[in-house]
Amino acid sequence: MKVAIIGGGGRVGSCAAFALQCSGVVKEIVLLDANQAAAEGEALDLLHGAAFCADQTISAGTYADCASADVVCITAGLRRKPDESRLDLINRNVGLFRGILQSLKEAGLKKDAIVFVVSNPVDILTQLAVEELGLPVNQVLGLGTALDTSRFCSLIASSLKLAPSQVRALILGEHGDTMVPIWSSATVDGLPLLKFPGVTPQFAKQLFERTQKSGAEVISRKGGAGYAVGVAIREVIDTIALDGRRILPVSSQQAGAYGIRGVCLSVPTVVGRCGVVDTVEVELWPKELQGLQASARALQETRSKIR
Ligand code: 2OP
Repeated sequence: MKVAIIGGGGRVGSCAAFALQCSGVVKEIVLLDANQAAAEGEALDLLHGAAFCADQTISAGTYADCASADVVCITAGLRRKPDESRLDLINRNVGLFRGILQSLKEAGLKKDAIVFVVSNPVDILTQLAVEELGLPVNQVLGLGTALDTSRFCSLIASSLKLAPSQVRALILGEHGDTMVPIWSSATVDGLPLLKFPGVTPQFAKQLFERTQKSGAEVISRKGGAGYAVGVAIREVIDTIALDGRRILPVSSQQAGAYGIRGVCLSVPTVVGRCGVVDTVEVELWPKELQGLQASARALQETRSKIR
């Protein structure tokens, strides 16, 4: 499977490429960037490690490479300032993003290509991609709250000294200020997390707040996320490549789950080679459902402000 990463010369795109190289699942990785030298440099650096990593083709390329890509991942965009919300980014990034969509349309895409949006505000930009690319809705998805879910599970595990891979706790809704922690189904190796020693309402509140602020916390220290967002991207792309049909919290246009439609946000989503295979409407606590619907309203309001 061929993956093109638009923004591959930047931190997020290059970390995603490195994660894809380490997993070795996809066959070809092409890095595109407005800064061509950066894309070439990252591709070369990755290529140099191929002998000890995986048998893949790794190169820098152009939009012409997107025409034969199975997955086009868009990470390009301006980064948020530490005190700036993701939605504040929108006016700065919408123009840039629409330019990328136009270039993709001019280059042409495979009829079964998946467009995977990471650029922020990811839910809004995923919505724009759905509206403007003319692909089947299931073939456009966004990273959504997959990164937030990884952060949530990892921070819980770190605090409780548990194995991170055994903690399953979803964040759903907007990848942003209105994201929702789903404690009702949170487990550690199948055991209910809320019944775990040390898990008090205060603990739960602190862990969620830390998760919500994690993006800004990283930005203030190192300028922006890289490794965690890279592995979250790899988790989705490898699931597409393997037709894994795994349930992931990714952003896609909703068609009625939880009473939400016509807006992109993250609900439990079955992901496979065709992109969104299905959404899974598991029962939520009333406050979780209200939070999800509030997230949808916030995103719909923001979408309405964009021309
Ligand atoms: C973050 O939360 C990049 O939006 C991403 O760090």
